[in-house]
Amino acid sequence: MTHPKHDKADDLAELKEVITADGSITFHNPKYDSEYHSRSGAEEEAVKKYAEQSNLAELAKTEHSIRILDICFGIGYNSAAAIDAINAVDPKCSINVLGIDNDPQIIAKIQDVNSKFLSYDKIKKLSKNKINEKQHWVKEDNVQMMLFINDARIVLKMLAKENNPALRFDAVFLDPFSPIKCPELWTEDFFKDIRMVMKKKAVLVTYSCARAVRDNLKHAGFIVKDGQCIGRRGPSTIAVN
Ligand SMILES: C[S@@+](CC[C@H](N)C(=O)[O-])C[C@H]1O[C@@H](n2cnc3c(N)ncnc32)[C@H](O)[C@@H]1O
Repeated sequence: MTHPKHDKADDLAELKEVITADGSITFHNPKYDSEYHSRSGAEEEAVKKYAEQSNLAELAKTEHSIRILDICFGIGYNSAAAIDAINAVDPKCSINVLGIDNDPQIIAKIQDVNSKFLSYDKIKKLSKNKINEKQHWVKEDNVQMMLFINDARIVLKMLAKENNPALRFDAVFLDPFSPIKCPELWTEDFFKDIRMVMKKKAVLVTYSCARAVRDNLKHAGFIVKDGQCIGRRGPSTIAVN
C-alpha cells in the first residue's frame, strides 16, 4: 500500500464541492484524490452505514448517557446522524461525542454545508468554537462534543494511555479515506488502541470490507460481521468488542 503523494501545494489546494445522489453535499480532496462520502448519497451513508448499524436508537431506549467516538470527523455527518437517531428516541439522553480529524480545512468547510440533519447546527457551532488550534468544543441541550484536530493515532494513544473505564465508548465510527490512500488508519496496532477505549460489546462500524482490514480487526481482538450493502457492491463491516 502506498501513501498519496504529498507536497506543500496540496495542503492549500481547494476542496471542491460535490452534490451526491440524495442531494446532500460532500467534497473532493485533491491531496487524496478522494471524496469524503459515497456519490450514492452522503447523508444516506451517514444514516445507514453509521447511525443505524451502531444500534444507537436501540441503546437510547435503555441508556441515559451514550458516548460516541467519531474517527475522521470530516464534515460531521456521521455524528449528526447519530445524534438525530438518539434524540428521536430520547431527547433527554446525554450524548457525548469525541471527534478526531487532522485537517482544519475540512472543519472550516462545515460552515458552507447545509444539511438536513436536525443537529447540524451543533456541528456548525463545534466547527466555529475553538478552544485552541487543536481543540473545538460545544455543549448545548443534551449534547456535548469535543473535536481534536490531530492525527487519530496520536489521540488514540493518549486515550488508551488514560484508560479511564468511565470514559469508554458505546460506538466507534471509523471513516478514513480508503486503505490504499490512508493505510495508517487501518492497521492492527491502531485497532488495538481503539478497542482499549471501547466498552465491552460496543461496536465499531466502518464502510470497508477489505480482507486486510477485517483480518487486522480480528487480530486486534474484534468479532467481525457483515454490515449492510449501501451505495457500493460489498457489505460494510461491524466489529464487536
Ligand atoms: C472519508 S473522510 C471522513 C468523512 C466524515 N466522516 C464525514 O462524515 O464527513 C476522511 C477524513 O479523514 C481525515 N484524516 C485523514 N488522515 C487522518 C489522520 N491521520 N488522522 C485523523 N484524520 C485523518 C481527513 O481529513 C478526512 O476528513
